[in-house]
Amino acid sequence: MQKIDILTIFPELFGPFLETAFVALARKQGAVSVETHNLRDWTQDRHRSVDDSPYGGGPGMVMTPEPLVPAIEALAGAKGPDRGTRVVCLTPQGQPLCQSKLAEMAVGPPLLLVCGRYEGIDQRILDLAVDDEVSIGDYVLSGGEVPAMVLVEGIVRLLPGVLGNPESIRRESFQGGGVLEGPQYTRPPVYRGLSVPEILRSGDHAAIDEWRRQNAQARTRERRPDLLVKAGSGGPFDQPEQD
Ligand code: 6GU
Repeated sequence: MQKIDILTIFPELFGPFLETAFVALARKQGAVSVETHNLRDWTQDRHRSVDDSPYGGGPGMVMTPEPLVPAIEALAGAKGPDRGTRVVCLTPQGQPLCQSKLAEMAVGPPLLLVCGRYEGIDQRILDLAVDDEVSIGDYVLSGGEVPAMVLVEGIVRLLPGVLGNPESIRRESFQGGGVLEGPQYTRPPVYRGLSVPEILRSGDHAAIDEWRRQNAQARTRERRPDLLVKAGSGGPFDQPEQD
């Protein structure tokens, strides 16, 4: 069972996310435990403050170490080689998230996800208590809560025994050496004059596999040429085999 704790000032954002669909099923099946913790529970002052204005001036607020470092230590222990938990802070300054990182997190030590908020995080929090900083892409959000959900969903679907058909996890990234999926179809065979390609209805599985491989490659070349150089060389879609 993978254990994921989430430290946030908005635990209520996670309610329906954790109680719906695939993540809910995985929790019910005991494949993962996900618990949220309110950072304000570690505040000491009357206003339950979690942030303050930045030294050196400038707009916005910065998360202060005062509740955050003790909160991380209470949930994960003190930083160091003996800490059994990997503490990951979600911030736009982090390393970009990729499929191989999700795969590592799915099989690695318990996780504490720290959701950054406001314009930034006091550097001493990162130095004293955080192991990794992760970003979900080159754009800016107001907080790490949605990115934390992205991590949880990406990890949970890789956990052994949760996805109904583990084969579908293997196929999606390596579809015939392409990286992106090619076009997919289901019934009806004709919809508003558009037909499903004949080959997919032919029953010739070798021909279908080849058709899919070529389409996946063509689509990847067209849309994401940057992924082609990485495929099979430890790139973003590489992941360990599941059993
Ligand atoms: Cl992890 N946090 C925030 N606030 N913005 C982001 C992000 C994370 N990843 C991309 N943009």
